[in-house]
Amino acid sequence: MGAIGSLKTPMITPAKLELDGQVYELPTLRGTEGEPAVSIAALRDKTGHITLDDGYSNTGSCRSAITFIDGEKGILRYRGIPIEELAEKSTFVETAYLLIYGNLPTRAQFRAFSGMLTDNENLHEDMKYHFEGFPSTAHPMAILSAMINASSCFYPGLNGPRNADRFDVHAARLISQVRTIAAFSYRKSRGLPIIYPKRAYKYTANFLHMMFSDPYEDYNLQPEIVRALDLIFLLHADHEQNCSTATVRMVASSQANLFACAAAGVCALWGPLHGGANQAVVEMLQEIHKSGDDGSKFIAAAKDKNSGRRLMGFGHRLYKNYDPRATIIRKACDQILKRIQVADPLLDIAKRLEEAALNDPYFVERKLYPNVDFYSGIIMRAVGIPLEMFTVIFGIGRMPGWIANFKEIMEDPKGRIYRPRQIYVGSGLRHYVPLEQREQ
Ligand code: ACO
Repeated sequence: MGAIGSLKTPMITPAKLELDGQVYELPTLRGTEGEPAVSIAALRDKTGHITLDDGYSNTGSCRSAITFIDGEKGILRYRGIPIEELAEKSTFVETAYLLIYGNLPTRAQFRAFSGMLTDNENLHEDMKYHFEGFPSTAHPMAILSAMINASSCFYPGLNGPRNADRFDVHAARLISQVRTIAAFSYRKSRGLPIIYPKRAYKYTANFLHMMFSDPYEDYNLQPEIVRALDLIFLLHADHEQNCSTATVRMVASSQANLFACAAAGVCALWGPLHGGANQAVVEMLQEIHKSGDDGSKFIAAAKDKNSGRRLMGFGHRLYKNYDPRATIIRKACDQILKRIQVADPLLDIAKRLEEAALNDPYFVERKLYPNVDFYSGIIMRAVGIPLEMFTVIFGIGRMPGWIANFKEIMEDPKGRIYRPRQIYVGSGLRHYVPLEQREQ
């Protein structure tokens, strides 16, 4: 398959750091787009100090050639290609190839890759019994993570160091089967019979078929709906060192297998501050709709730190401008709802909230703009995806990004286990007290 990008970074003039009257030189470097960094790898050896960066706001944890984001300018590129171009011209499967292998595929490479996805779309038949063990109330993200990990039991070749020679097939298997697992878990949660994938269908159409067909009647695949969901997968396919991807890299650095790393990624994605936000946005809009609020009460609560509320789908660690994915999704949302003739009152509420927030000094001063999750849920509702599956859809989309990051770790000859340090703030030395001498 194609070659991965270079991880080289040109050096610039060293930085000088003065500590306790002594000056230390620290190497500096620049990324492809000129973003400068100071390397502190040798700081503790030289000075005895570590750096402290709660929540990693300013820590570059790796060099990566996959995705570039300029949050100030609202730029997102996969392997150098702007997200806007991919959204308009590419498909999820082609974009997955681009992310994992570094370049857009030739015709032959695309055929081989899609062929591998089709050949690996079925789960091992025994996997079906694992679904039986979950209660019908289980959240599909719990099932997704557990089943991805369980799948690794069926491919013993996965275990052992790296498995680089089998990477292509494992990657294809994971991308293909994550949607089969997702659809099976949905059918199970509704007490519906499992629908097997069909070889004739392309990736996203096949997922919709497995979700919504019945044994006696195939789901009517509308091209607009297939395209809308494919776009959602594509827009979620990677986003550099976010919480779940950093988790995947962390687990991969210990040389755990690809499926174990992906299962860990799913767990990290689940939280409402990350992938779970798409579900939380729609729940918030539903609540506003039900209460009859025009949005102003909710905005007031979101600004009040004691309320425990946030305007879900707003704000981002990197984007201090529009999230470019939100701009694409907002447009797609208007189009798809018109085309399939759905009038969703939640869309009107979302637009009102957006306008109110963008004109409110609280959000303006903090540079809080809509993120990808603000409108994606409304599209998913319109195409019939149930609320509890929203974060699973995000997980299916993010799989190529996780795999590309896993591959980067696997191929780094200088790769070391990820092991951050900490500043200990617990109790000083004290000694063990036998139970009978402790205050009761
Ligand atoms: N509503 C109200 N206030 C907010 C919001 C929000 N959505 N987001 C941030 N703020 C406020 C914070 O309270 C803080 O205010 P302060 O400076 O007065 O204390 C300030 O803006 C900075 O916020 P942080 O929490 O420090 O920003 P951080 O970078 O840590 O968090 C995050 C980013 C988690 C996305 C945050 O904006 C948030 O919780 N948003 C809502 C959840 C959401 O939409 N998550 C999806 C993210 S995108 C993704 O994962 C695909």
